[in-house]
Amino acid sequence: MKTIDRRRFIQWAGAFLGSAALSSTGFLRPQALWGANRETGFEPDVEIYLEAGYDQISLLSGPRTDVWRYHGKVLTGPEETLDLSDMSYLGPTFRFRRGQNIRIRFQNLLPDETTIHWHGLHVPDTMDGHPRLAVAPGGSYTFEFKVLNRAGTYWYHPHPHGRTGHQVYGGLAGLLIVSEPQEAALPLPSGRYDLPLIIQDRAFDRENQLLYMPRGMMDRMNGMMGDRMLVNGRPDHFLDMDSATYRLRILNASNARIYRLAWDDGGPLTIIGTDGGLLERPATRQEVLLSPGERIELWADFSRHRGGDVVRLVSRPLPQAAAGGMMMGRGMMGGRMGMMAGRSPLDDTTFTVTTFKVGTAAGPRKDLPGRLRPIERYAREDADNTYSPKRFSLTMSHMQGLINGRVFDMQAVAPDEYVRLDGTEIWEFANDGLGMGMMNMPMAHPMHMHAVQFQVLERWGVSHDGYLDAGWKDTLLILPGERAQVIARFSPYAGLYIYHCHNLEHEDGGMMRNFRIS
Ligand code: C2O
Ligand code: CU
Ligand code: CU
Repeated sequence: MKTIDRRRFIQWAGAFLGSAALSSTGFLRPQALWGANRETGFEPDVEIYLEAGYDQISLLSGPRTDVWRYHGKVLTGPEETLDLSDMSYLGPTFRFRRGQNIRIRFQNLLPDETTIHWHGLHVPDTMDGHPRLAVAPGGSYTFEFKVLNRAGTYWYHPHPHGRTGHQVYGGLAGLLIVSEPQEAALPLPSGRYDLPLIIQDRAFDRENQLLYMPRGMMDRMNGMMGDRMLVNGRPDHFLDMDSATYRLRILNASNARIYRLAWDDGGPLTIIGTDGGLLERPATRQEVLLSPGERIELWADFSRHRGGDVVRLVSRPLPQAAAGGMMMGRGMMGGRMGMMAGRSPLDDTTFTVTTFKVGTAAGPRKDLPGRLRPIERYAREDADNTYSPKRFSLTMSHMQGLINGRVFDMQAVAPDEYVRLDGTEIWEFANDGLGMGMMNMPMAHPMHMHAVQFQVLERWGVSHDGYLDAGWKDTLLILPGERAQVIARFSPYAGLYIYHCHNLEHEDGGMMRNFRIS
């Protein structure tokens, strides 16, 4: 049974308290490997020590909260590769430059096996954090990869099979920002005007401890949703802003919650980037749907505001069709009854994600560039399977998420899960309840592919106004009743990768599959 109740969570944390001194003093005196890898010849430009361990952190008034947390330190190379600015329980922000060779010496100080996945990055399959490569408690693993991706906002998090939701919820996640000269040359807000916002929801008990899956089966099916917003690891998050133009990099690092983001003053959102970096040109939307794993970059001009103004980024209630799951009368969904019924109070109201308080200080005011970065568009005709897209049917049957009726198996690869190295394919994710002919519970599934960034070719069905399908994507929300086709080039690494639903409880429940590039 993969349902983790609170008692077990506390027990784990407690079991680890004994060795807490080990992690809170920081580091096990890491030795840099120095120089080239003897087997592969890989020469790092930067070498980092990273550990996952137990910690306690003051989040709410009263007792501190037990968390699991990444700590890191640069061993050799540029110090600024690790941004250690306060992110509460979240891991340090990695700041990579495109083309850099990265070596990360990872130490698992958790009482649980884990792996690290670099979400969105193109890395060799043994560096991708596949669950088959789980690192045992006390074990270590050396990651080595070249940063091939475009400049953009990526992230890292654990990926052990059946345990990802629990570990991410416990605090293990961090941001990863890739830069490159072509982007730096654009007149975009930079330095302290380039702000990350990692958005997550959590539930706490009376002793301020994280509550994971208190509703049991209900949370397993809907995914774990809390009743409190945390931004950059802080509840009641707000930022003091200058009267200036900002770039906001927003990551939805929640286990299951889908946000419907909007400004509270009703003004449109100006989007400049998505999962795989900057768009060709800015886009505007009244609201944006952001599902777990997805990123969005906003252009936010606070110079339009006067000192003392307060601006809020809010999330509106999801339309019932998007929420999926158990549909119950809205009237009984508030408060405790809502919690019992499997929905949290956040689900049915507009709530504040974060608050921006505009001060009197003025900072640089920028003009929105009309063009951002070029994107090579893939056409349907570029694919190896133009006339026969691979179809992956998404269903939720007997509380289990399935892809083409299958669940995750550590080694298995079905015939339609083989891809030619350097090939280009169209994949269709179909959440239309057809396919397997089984009883299907309509639910939203944010589908994520490792190893690639894809482009969205077409959607059928619901097509919400809050979709932003332009640019490079690695995670795509597929609402109930909908199907979408994406196109990707499977390059430059062969190997065994995974694709899955990024609702972490769906993923842990087996809504994940291997694919092999060969
Ligand atoms: Cu962010 Cu396989 O996931
Ligand atoms: Cu990923
Ligand atoms: Cu799902």
